[in-house]
Amino acid sequence: MANYAEIITKIYNDTLAIKDKGSLATYISELANTDSNKFGVYITTVDDASFGIGDYLESFSIQSIVKVLSLAIAYKLFGEDIWKRVDVEPSGNSFNSLIQLEADNGIPRNPFINAGAIVTSDILLSYLPDTRKYFLDFIRELAGNDDLDYCERIADSEWATGYRNIAICNFLKSFDNIQNDPNEVLDLYFNLCSIEVNCKDLSNIFSLFANEGRMLNKNKQVLTKSQTKRINAIMQTCGFYDQSGDFAFRVGLPGKSGVGGGIVAIHPERYAITTWSPKLNEKGNSYRGMYFLENFTTETEFSIF
Ligand code: DON
Repeated sequence: MANYAEIITKIYNDTLAIKDKGSLATYISELANTDSNKFGVYITTVDDASFGIGDYLESFSIQSIVKVLSLAIAYKLFGEDIWKRVDVEPSGNSFNSLIQLEADNGIPRNPFINAGAIVTSDILLSYLPDTRKYFLDFIRELAGNDDLDYCERIADSEWATGYRNIAICNFLKSFDNIQNDPNEVLDLYFNLCSIEVNCKDLSNIFSLFANEGRMLNKNKQVLTKSQTKRINAIMQTCGFYDQSGDFAFRVGLPGKSGVGGGIVAIHPERYAITTWSPKLNEKGNSYRGMYFLENFTTETEFSIF
């Protein structure tokens, strides 16, 4: 087995030494208050060789990484019917784009662009009486951390400047692809994006996707093997918006990014790794996170390809 601790420490230091050419997300004003120098990494391995370095215990905003978890719950509870409402094709467009929605009759290209995650939020809201509590319980159990919670400050800040998301949700409603009140759907969506996590929480949660849908250390099958494989496939093809091809090319793992600066990547049957560094490249993905992960799969010589 690779010596992950040694390799991660080396690449962490190499990454700190390069110039961070990213910039903070400012369109959600609260995100602009983050300390942009933070950098943490945590790996959860399926064989108990976990390791963290830097700011891996500091909380940050989960943002779009949560879209994988909304999808996982919607898929687990409601099965294949969800694919009637959201497709599984890469969009080749930015995360908050509206451009394809009209041509595609209100069916979002995939569950990881904002339009797709707004539809999965609507599905959860229709079928779960206390959606917010169910969601928290689900991620707290996977993370092994009962402190995980929503952040009202961030959710309010998203509402304040959420013109695009508000437009997307109303546009979806005009195609009958939103069943609930758009304000309630958006409120759930913004709250899900606001959840505060650290690198360790995220790697623990996402170890599910590295472990064929079973919780590590508990013999509990949360997703079927087939559901897990499919969600990993969507992370591979759609996890980085219009940089998904580049991430597959440079890193070679399924993964998901968020504008809070987090990135999670999965090596099926080996590990889940999370990086957090808040400055983003022009595609909305963490600059240092991308650099770190490219070098990590290069050094370990493991990727899914
Ligand atoms: O809806 C938004 O714009 C944010 N709450 C989430 C966007 C995001 O994380 C995109 N990721 N890179």
